Amino acid sequence: MTEKKALLQVKHLKQYFKNGRHTTKAVDDVSFDIYEGETFGLVGESGSGKTTTGRSILQLYHPTSGEILFDGQDVAKLKSRSDQLAFRRQAQMIFQDPYASLNPRMTVEDIIAEGLDIHGLVKDKDERRKRVEELLETVGLNKNHASRFPHEFSGGQRQRIGIARALAVKPKFIVADEPISALDVSIQAQVVNLMIELQKKRGLTYLFIAHDLSMVKFISDRIGVMHFGKLLEVGPADEVYDHPLHDYTKSLISAVPIPDPEIERSRKRLTYDANKEEFDGKKRTMHEIRPGHFVRCADDEVAHYEAVAQSYE
Ligand SMILES: Nc1ncnc2c1ncn2[C@@H]1O[C@H](COP(=O)(O)OP(=O)(O)OP(=O)(O)O)[C@@H](O)[C@H]1O
Ligand SMILES: [Mg+2]
Repeated sequence: MTEKKALLQVKHLKQYFKNGRHTTKAVDDVSFDIYEGETFGLVGESGSGKTTTGRSILQLYHPTSGEILFDGQDVAKLKSRSDQLAFRRQAQMIFQDPYASLNPRMTVEDIIAEGLDIHGLVKDKDERRKRVEELLETVGLNKNHASRFPHEFSGGQRQRIGIARALAVKPKFIVADEPISALDVSIQAQVVNLMIELQKKRGLTYLFIAHDLSMVKFISDRIGVMHFGKLLEVGPADEVYDHPLHDYTKSLISAVPIPDPEIERSRKRLTYDANKEEFDGKKRTMHEIRPGHFVRCADDEVAHYEAVAQSYE
C-alpha cells in the first residue's frame, strides 16, 4: 500500500471564546490529520466543539493557538492575497440548515455561481450559465431550475443546491457540518449517497460532522470523537465503532438503537462521567493503542487501554 498523504493537519488547535470573565474552551488542544480522498467523521454531542473545529479549519475564526496545515502549508501564514484566495477556493463548506444557508432573494444560478464570480472562474454570462447548469445536473437537479428561488425547493433539493455551490469552485476539501440532520429521514440517504458518489468521481476529501455515530460510521473511513472541546479517540471507522477504547465512545455507541427489539431490551446503556478525568490533574495526550487507533489518556492509563484492546481479540 502506498503511504497515505495528509491533506489537512490540525495541530494542537485551541479555539477559546471569551465572554466577559467567562472563557468557553470550544476546542481545547485538538490534533488530527485528514488523508487525501478520505472521509473523516467527527462525532460528539451538542456543544462538544465540532462546528467550531470545522470553522477554525476554514479560517473563519482566528485560532487561539495551534496550527492548520493544508497541503503542508500553514494556512494562517499565507501572506499573499492570491494564496489566501486559493485556500478559500480549495476548502469549502456544506451547511447543516439548507433553509437558512441559501439567500432567499438570490436565484439558484446566482447562489451557485457566487464562488465562480469571486474567484473569476468564468469569462462571460454564457459560460457562467453553462457551468451552473452542469452543476445542477451533477447534483441531480434539473438545469431549468437555475432561474428559480430557494423557496421553490424541498429541503433535500436545497441541500443539493448547497452541494452544487460548494462544488462550483472545484475544491479539494469540504467540511460538511451535519449536512443531513435537518432533512427528512427518507431523503437523508439520497444526499449521503450523492456525497459519496461525488467524492469518488472528484477525489474529494471530507470532514463530515454529525451527532449520529451510526451515520458517521457508514460514511467515514476514520472517526474522531469529541467531548467538551477535547478529542478523546481517533481511529479507523470500524475499529472505533466495533472496538471502542474510551468510555465516552462506548457510551455513544450504547445509545445507538439496534433494530432487533429483543437485543435492544436487554442492552445496557453506558454512561460516562467526565468529571473523573477532568479534575484528577493528570496530563492527557493521544496514545496509539492499536495501529492507527488513538485514545486520549495519561501515561499511567495506557496499560488499561491496552487491556481493553486485548479484550476484543
Ligand atoms: N462564536 C461563538 N462565541 C462564543 N461561544 C461559542 C461560539 N461558537 C460556539 N461557542 C460555544 O462553543 C462550544 C462548542 O460549540 P460548537 O457549536 O462548536 O459545538 P457543536 O459540537 O458543533 O454542537 P452542535 O452539535 O450543537 O452543533 C459551545 O459551548 C458553544 O456555546
Ligand atoms: Mg455544530
